[in-house]
Amino acid sequence: MLTKRFLVSVLIAITCVQLVSSLTCYTCLNANDCKKARKTTCTVAAANETSHHLGVYHQNVRWVPMYRYDCLALKYTYQNNNTVTHQLHGCVHPDVNACNLYLKPQYSSWRRAQCKVCSGDKCNKNPAGALSRSHYTIVAAGLALVLAKIYA
Ligand SMILES: *[C@@H]1O[C@H](CO)[C@@H](O)[C@H](O)[C@H]1NC(C)=O
Ligand SMILES: *[C@@H]1O[C@H](CO)[C@@H](O)[C@H](O)[C@H]1NC(C)=O
Repeated sequence: MLTKRFLVSVLIAITCVQLVSSLTCYTCLNANDCKKARKTTCTVAAANETSHHLGVYHQNVRWVPMYRYDCLALKYTYQNNNTVTHQLHGCVHPDVNACNLYLKPQYSSWRRAQCKVCSGDKCNKNPAGALSRSHYTIVAAGLALVLAKIYA
């Protein structure tokens, strides 16, 4: 019995650590790409790539090497119609302040139709709109199953 209790504690600890230390975001680079967004686990390189893409049409995007991440959902359209001019989803460093950046002068007529920086797995939502079960639900379900087996 003691061994089982111990095993359960270890399992719960491992699950918690994983939930805290890894973040998954939907990632896509332009309007067409966002019809089939990927899920990416945030790393320095992934957040770096987002900064790089932000820098194509924004001024003064800072390169902030840090190990905290948020998810970004960003969409620009033309001012007079809803045609998407640019769309970007991905992992982002919180200090980049992605939603407060200024556009470069040549893109200044774009309208910021959506900008969201959030924390939580896949909180930047699949831009194609398909629903998917959250990571957390799957982990919780798995843990419940293990507990049920051990105490049965
Ligand atoms: C991040 O980007 C900068 C410049 O854009 C580059 O010099 C650096 O090597 C990149 N780092 C990683 C870990 O990708
Ligand atoms: C939307 O407006 C832009 C610029 O005014 C124009 O170039 C584009 O063709 C328009 N798109 C549609 C679908 O009307």
